[in-house]
Amino acid sequence: MSTRPLPPADAPAAVDLFSKFDPLIATRESLLATGVKDPFGLVMEKVLSPTRAVCNGRETILLGTYNYMGMTFDDDVIAAGKQALDEFGSGTTGSRVLNGTYVGHKAVEEALKEFYAMDHAMVFSTGYQANLGIISTIAGKGDYIVLDIDSHASIYDGCKMGDAEIVPFRHNDVTALEKRLARIPEGAGKLVVLEGVYSMLGDVAPLKEMIRVSKAAGAMVLVDEAHSMGFIGANGRGVAEDQGVIDEVDFIIGTFSKSVGTVGGFCVSNHPKFEILRLVCRPYVFTASLPPSVVATAATSIRKLRHGHNKRAHLWENSKRLHAGLKALGFTLGTEEPQSAIIAVIMPDLEKGAAMWEALLAEGLYVNLARPPATPAGMTLLRCSLCAEHSDAEVGEILQMFENAGKAVGVI
Ligand SMILES: Cc1ncc(COP(=O)(O)O)c(C=O)c1O
Repeated sequence: MSTRPLPPADAPAAVDLFSKFDPLIATRESLLATGVKDPFGLVMEKVLSPTRAVCNGRETILLGTYNYMGMTFDDDVIAAGKQALDEFGSGTTGSRVLNGTYVGHKAVEEALKEFYAMDHAMVFSTGYQANLGIISTIAGKGDYIVLDIDSHASIYDGCKMGDAEIVPFRHNDVTALEKRLARIPEGAGKLVVLEGVYSMLGDVAPLKEMIRVSKAAGAMVLVDEAHSMGFIGANGRGVAEDQGVIDEVDFIIGTFSKSVGTVGGFCVSNHPKFEILRLVCRPYVFTASLPPSVVATAATSIRKLRHGHNKRAHLWENSKRLHAGLKALGFTLGTEEPQSAIIAVIMPDLEKGAAMWEALLAEGLYVNLARPPATPAGMTLLRCSLCAEHSDAEVGEILQMFENAGKAVGVI
């Protein structure tokens, strides 16, 4: 029984701080009342490979993990993690600037510098923290951040955490970016924040033109290549490499939670004063560093990704085949042509989206259900992310499952 003291009789009634969530609670309850399973509560009971897991007691093909290059079960990656666990223990229990920098943290930063051919690399505990830290630290009071309106939550949160003025522009619209830049007072510091691949629809940014107008306006440029690292570009450096403008980018942000296959985030740069960020960037200083096993797996994975040409080629084949197959079945997709390893299937509404998500799971296929506010224009999406380890046969099975589920739910 609770022994909490009662508030005094004359105390004002407490405002329930949770009342702001009432609309979301109601939406969730009405969705679950239709009999659909909770699409945000799936448990992986066993993970068999980068492309297969057991969910609800059933072997399931994974098509929503962002494990683009399938590195999570790579033999060398696993061996490096086990060795680091044996030799350095389970965690650092400290900040990078105190007791949390081991040889492994330096090694993964070296691997990143080599991968991107850049002078500096700084590793954070997640990609979210990398955006939070870099954006809030480099753009300060009196500076301007010009960002694509469809930017990831971590970019928006980085803007919120800092003191700069925020100027959003229409998604992937070069003219809108140019106009916003022209309105910024002369002499102000300017940071343009872009992404290589936008993860909701899987579309690619016209970085070449965007960087041209940004540089012409005297802005520095940050590109988040979370969804392109390892896959896009001749060496897997991302969209900026693919469009021949990587040397113009001031800061590249990335994550270890997608192609690299573990957890962590980073920023690479050629800026000569970059290293000072290690002392002033709060999401780097005031948190514990990554465990030794994680940085060991990341370094091994990044070194292998450099030579992943065959995997990149196979992943493109998978993406093209799934895109063409879904289009032929009559689904509405986020892009006309496949532009990345993400293929977004647009659902008519949340109810149909959740029903389709569940029907696919019953067929033995896991995809991501995405809904507002994460999605643009209020869309409900089934986001598919392909893996270089999906076999041709698996892509065939996936298309068959989409056909069965789509017909059962009445989406096609
Ligand atoms: C564009 C983008 N940036 C950053 C992140 C954050 O990465 P992490 O999972 O490492 O926190 C994500 C993750 O979904 C992302 O999509």
